[in-house]
Amino acid sequence: MKSIPTIAAIIFIASMLTASSFASAQQQTYDQPYRPQVHFSPERNWTNDPNGLVFYHGEYHLFFQYNPFGDTWGHMSWGHAVSRDLLHWHQLPLAIPEQNGVMIFTGSVVIDRTDSSGLCKPAKECIVAVYTGDGDTPDGHRETQNLAYSLDDGRNWKKYEKNPVLDLHLADFRDPSVSWDEERHHWVMAVSLPREHKVSFYLSKDLKQWTHASDFGPAGDTNGVWECPDLLRVPSEGKHGSLWALKVGLNPGAPQGGSGEQYFLGEFDGTSFKVSDEEGVHGWTNYGKDDYCAISFNGIPPGGQPVLLGWMNNWDYAAKLPTSPWRGQMSLARKLSLIRDQNGLALAQDPVIDSLRKGSVPLHLKESSGNEGAAATLSPPYELDFEEVNPSANSFGVRIYYDDQHWTEIGFDKAKGEFYIDRTRSGEGAIPAFATKTTAHVVPGRPYNVKVIIDRSSVEAFAQNGTIAMTNLVYPPTASNRVLFFPSSSPQTANVRAHLWKLASVWQGADRGHGPNSR
Ligand code: FRU
Repeated sequence: MKSIPTIAAIIFIASMLTASSFASAQQQTYDQPYRPQVHFSPERNWTNDPNGLVFYHGEYHLFFQYNPFGDTWGHMSWGHAVSRDLLHWHQLPLAIPEQNGVMIFTGSVVIDRTDSSGLCKPAKECIVAVYTGDGDTPDGHRETQNLAYSLDDGRNWKKYEKNPVLDLHLADFRDPSVSWDEERHHWVMAVSLPREHKVSFYLSKDLKQWTHASDFGPAGDTNGVWECPDLLRVPSEGKHGSLWALKVGLNPGAPQGGSGEQYFLGEFDGTSFKVSDEEGVHGWTNYGKDDYCAISFNGIPPGGQPVLLGWMNNWDYAAKLPTSPWRGQMSLARKLSLIRDQNGLALAQDPVIDSLRKGSVPLHLKESSGNEGAAATLSPPYELDFEEVNPSANSFGVRIYYDDQHWTEIGFDKAKGEFYIDRTRSGEGAIPAFATKTTAHVVPGRPYNVKVIIDRSSVEAFAQNGTIAMTNLVYPPTASNRVLFFPSSSPQTANVRAHLWKLASVWQGADRGHGPNSR
């Protein structure tokens, strides 16, 4: 009789020990060198593109290309994380696994509010994933569009038994971006024909039967394959109405090298997309090297700004990044708007970050303020905003020193008319094609300002009111940063107005995975 409570006690104590060592293991998990502190990264293993971004029942869902078995690309399946603020992410179990040699490639999740698909029963509505199945068939390699559905807020998924729903018998046909057309009451799919440099549009009433409506492309840059299209309506500041943006990934062959993303601005009339004839209708969603396959969230309440989030990486070197036990991370979420000024149109991006500001860090204003002339010395994550106060012919910006030999420089080169991030000395010389300076043309009529978010392994900059987004990974040799302005080291003598905020780590104080986002 006695032995029973004893065994129960042993089991209880053992399970308590396991729970507490699990919690401390989790804490360590998110504290390795280079582990992002304000960006999403999976606890372990490989990730690439974000998938199925959707806001549903108060949660933002981030599905992502995921290899459950290792830290290189393979066995592609959908990983899953949820957040209530787009910053604190809680990773959930695998959502949609590879099955019978068919990998689950990139796609969307839509909210089927009227059970148009008939897949939601007995519920009245559900969420439906539309993804590319990639695998070999007796007739060769095939990419087809498929459905899976969830009746419990994305925790469990079932594949539709009559998959695929769209099959052109092609080896390259992928990355469906699906949304509901409020005006015309049907589903719209933008899907890529990568080698033809085309985005095809299909329409459907029930997500199962799709009718071809039109093709867009080739257009703009066609140096590489076209992947990960996204069609979204972008509200405009000011009196003119919104426009549509069609964004498409290009790999390789982007101007910065490797993979990159271009956008077109225009009109979508329900069946086809036409580029507008205003100035500024073609640009790059990101002028850095590390933002790819960004897509926007479905389910944002009417009137809300569209939110875009990408894979912070480049196919040039994604498999070689020096991180463990995970490889790959996401960009910050950015709110999109359209700017229409005397210089034409531009897509503007504003990162979601403010709620992590912990208070402003004073910047030393005098050259001889100690810290070897640095305006501040700190470690990531932090936000640095600066703008030119008295326009001059000088170039200006900041250098973030890691040690005397290694730094990253962020600035405006006024002679060349460029905004740039130079990471040639950032410390990751061992990775081929990594040491680069990325540049974007500035528009002289727009303000010379920039907001920079610095995490342990990335620099994300939003210059000229967010019309230039530039995201670059960095792998510095130390975690200590000395911030120096130039042409002289203090912001005051460098003629800039600057603010620095220390950011709270999303892992700080959170009981990882057991915090406010867990359910
Ligand atoms: C882009 C991409 C997509 C594809 C996925 C596979 O990064 O090649 O076109 O669906 O990755 O992981």
